[in-house]
Amino acid sequence: MLLSIESSCDDSSIAVTKIDDKKLFFHKKISQEIDHSKYGGVVPELAARLHAKALPKILEECKEYFKDLKAIAVTNEPGLSVTLVEGVTMAKALCIALDAPLVGVNHLKGHIASLFIEKEGVFPMITLLVSGGHTQVLFVKSFFEYEVLAETLDDSFGESFDKVAKMLGLGYPGGPVVEEYAKRGDEDRFDFTVPLYNSNRLAFSYSGLKNQVRLAIESIKELNEQDKADICASFQKTAVLHLLHKLKKILKERTKNPHILSVVGGASANGYLRNRLERLSKDFDMELLLAPLEYCSDNAAMIGRYAIEAYKKSLFTDIDKIKISPKVSCAQSFSA
Ligand code: KG4
Ligand code: ZN
Repeated sequence: MLLSIESSCDDSSIAVTKIDDKKLFFHKKISQEIDHSKYGGVVPELAARLHAKALPKILEECKEYFKDLKAIAVTNEPGLSVTLVEGVTMAKALCIALDAPLVGVNHLKGHIASLFIEKEGVFPMITLLVSGGHTQVLFVKSFFEYEVLAETLDDSFGESFDKVAKMLGLGYPGGPVVEEYAKRGDEDRFDFTVPLYNSNRLAFSYSGLKNQVRLAIESIKELNEQDKADICASFQKTAVLHLLHKLKKILKERTKNPHILSVVGGASANGYLRNRLERLSKDFDMELLLAPLEYCSDNAAMIGRYAIEAYKKSLFTDIDKIKISPKVSCAQSFSA
């Protein structure tokens, strides 16, 4: 079995996965969303303190598996340095105590592996990765080969939902609450322009859209619940159209597309986006792969799933040399 730890942002999570058949034996996550909600975003030092409390608590529950552990995996990049270090320190201590090798895992590769929890991986695929820290389209050839086809120039897709929610006073994280409000709103009330629509650039940008939302909010004297719902719906429609517009362009411009289109990351839980991608995949005669909702946001099961592949190739990380890198994409990653 392999024990995996995730603490790159505001979720403390540990999983135990069987290496042979990928079966998940234990998986627990303690989310800090409520603690950060009043600040409208993640406060790194508070997050680190909460991980220091939560991780040992979860670890206590998986003690029965210690004797069977063949490796310890941990997210070491990208993420918040002060929170990554909590998981990495625990992983190093476990490796020493149990005389097991360490697998440092790139968080984004973990998100991609979330598609294959308790399953075999299928490749190649075009993958849209939408999280709080990243917005990328990748050509994924295997668990180990990634090519970035497009990425954001500024804010990420998920982050833009967080910022809109903050401006509307709806708390953190913004994604789920903005999606809920959008269901009651008129998506055509505000005519937000789709970012980079007239540009040929294969890239994303969300900072301008955020500004358009800010101006719309400022133009209303007293914002009522319907105004908020209409802003959320119009924003969500535009944010998703932007993803679809560039994704379509990528699929059209490539001479040969793989048969699979997939979407991963915390924001891939968005139902409106899933729906639109379902249609897009049909238009391009592709199969759409989605992770189960419980594995979209940060979790240790996805880190464990990726680590199994690394373990099989003996891609271990020296416990004295493991690096914490706040900003590394999976294509540039030096870790397993
Ligand atoms: O992958 P994740 O859990 O953490 C990072 O690696 O960043 O993604 C969290 C992000 C947050 O920005 C959150 O607002 C967004 O995913 N998110 C959503 C939804 N659920 C979570 N964004 C849009 N719609 C959702 N339903
Ligand atoms: Zn994530």
